[in-house]
Amino acid sequence: MTKKTNLNLSIKNRLLIQLGFVAFAISLCVFLITRIVVSQAITATQDGLLTTSIQSVIDKIYVVENTVSVDLPYDTFSLLGAVGEDRIFYRIDESGQFLTGYSDFPMPNKFGNIQEPEFSNLKYMGETLRMAAIENIVFAMDKPHELRIIIAQSQNFQKSIASRISSNLILITFFFFMIAILFAFLTANLTIKPIDLFAKDVKMRGPNNLRKVSVDVPTELRPLAQSLNEFISRFRSTLRQTETFIAEAAHHIRTPLSVVKSESELALRKSKTPENRERLRTIIKSVDQTNRSASQLLDHAMVLYRAERPEPEEFSIQHAISEIVTQFKLAADLRDLDLIFSTEVSAKETVHLDRTLFETSVRNLLDNALKYALAETLIIVEFSQTKNNFRLTIKNEYLSAPFLDQKQLFKKFKRGEQTREIIGSGLGLSIVMEAVSAIGASIDIRKIKGDIVCATLLVPY
Ligand SMILES: Nc1ncnc2c1ncn2[C@@H]1O[C@H](COP(=O)(O)OP(=O)(O)OP(=O)(O)O)[C@@H](O)[C@H]1O
Ligand SMILES: [Mg+2]
Repeated sequence: MTKKTNLNLSIKNRLLIQLGFVAFAISLCVFLITRIVVSQAITATQDGLLTTSIQSVIDKIYVVENTVSVDLPYDTFSLLGAVGEDRIFYRIDESGQFLTGYSDFPMPNKFGNIQEPEFSNLKYMGETLRMAAIENIVFAMDKPHELRIIIAQSQNFQKSIASRISSNLILITFFFFMIAILFAFLTANLTIKPIDLFAKDVKMRGPNNLRKVSVDVPTELRPLAQSLNEFISRFRSTLRQTETFIAEAAHHIRTPLSVVKSESELALRKSKTPENRERLRTIIKSVDQTNRSASQLLDHAMVLYRAERPEPEEFSIQHAISEIVTQFKLAADLRDLDLIFSTEVSAKETVHLDRTLFETSVRNLLDNALKYALAETLIIVEFSQTKNNFRLTIKNEYLSAPFLDQKQLFKKFKRGEQTREIIGSGLGLSIVMEAVSAIGASIDIRKIKGDIVCATLLVPY
């Protein structure tokens, strides 16, 4: 379960989390290191001051009549104490004997010399002190006197500087962290951009778009793009083989079929018995049915092929429609249908699309209207122009029987129950759908009031 969530996390979020952690770790390190360096610098300054005061104490040591005396440098002490209102403690011992200062001040274990005093921290009277301790030998009358001098200072000043620097440092570190997060965000966006573009390129294409994807992608994505392109071209060639096969098969079937049809018609004319005539009529109908299926299969293969590689051209849409309507006039007359075409669109209006695909759609729609219209009724073809589209509507009267729903209408080989007697393959509307989506148009067929079937084709311009 955890593994799945992990996998689903977007690359951008992963990058953001990782870079965020790195930015946080760097900020923390910078904060800690700067704090350590600053406190070391403050301690070094304090140690310098303590060394100077010890030196000024030593300067004031003198020997009078074999006795060691010290004049305490109060001016130095008061200067030391004035810094941050710190307290100063001192203790001077001579050869293990307490001489002056704070008698209960603890003695350290180690002592340094004037050049390098021994520094340490200790707690005394409830305060943390920084202490410098030295051991110095003074000769009086050739007798060595071992002097131990301790000077300690409270750390108020050090603490106040450290806390002031710390609060500034927190602000600076936070600012640094925010800038680092901003950079992390920009980096994540920049890194993800080529992947996003690639994903969009693949996502935007419809299921029929078998164009190769661009290989102008980052090196890491190149194997994926290449595999995808290999897959697409393999798929394309399989599809083309199937289409060519169907088209050739349909073509090969049509020629012998027309021979069968003409022979059967001849036999029908010469036939004497009603049984034979009936049989021959059934044969002719089946031949017609097979012929229709073969030509629709051929059309279907052609539409699929062109949908993949449309050949757009500029043409007058009104002119193209009226030509097709004229071609259908004769067929309409044969069925006693009145085919009426009206339009207010100028013949000068042009569109830029694959003419064959457009005309195939219109032909199939008109063919349906003529085939399924009730005899001696009107077929109304209207062509108009709306805000964004050219709109072609074809209306024909139909039985008051239930009509196929939208989904089934466009399915391959799906035919209405009431129209089984009429020759057809059930491929017409699926051809229309393929062609229409290839030219970016849309189609809608529904039964409207008064048992009228209305097909609406919208072509954007
Ligand atoms: N204008 C229409 N009026 C009434 N029914 C229609 C109309 N157009 C389509 N249909 C119904 O939708 C079904 C599917 O139509 P489609 O054009 O796909 O196939 P077909 O006309 O049966 O065969 P083909 O067009 O391949 O010869 C038809 O069988 C018919 O029942
Ligand atoms: Mg049809």
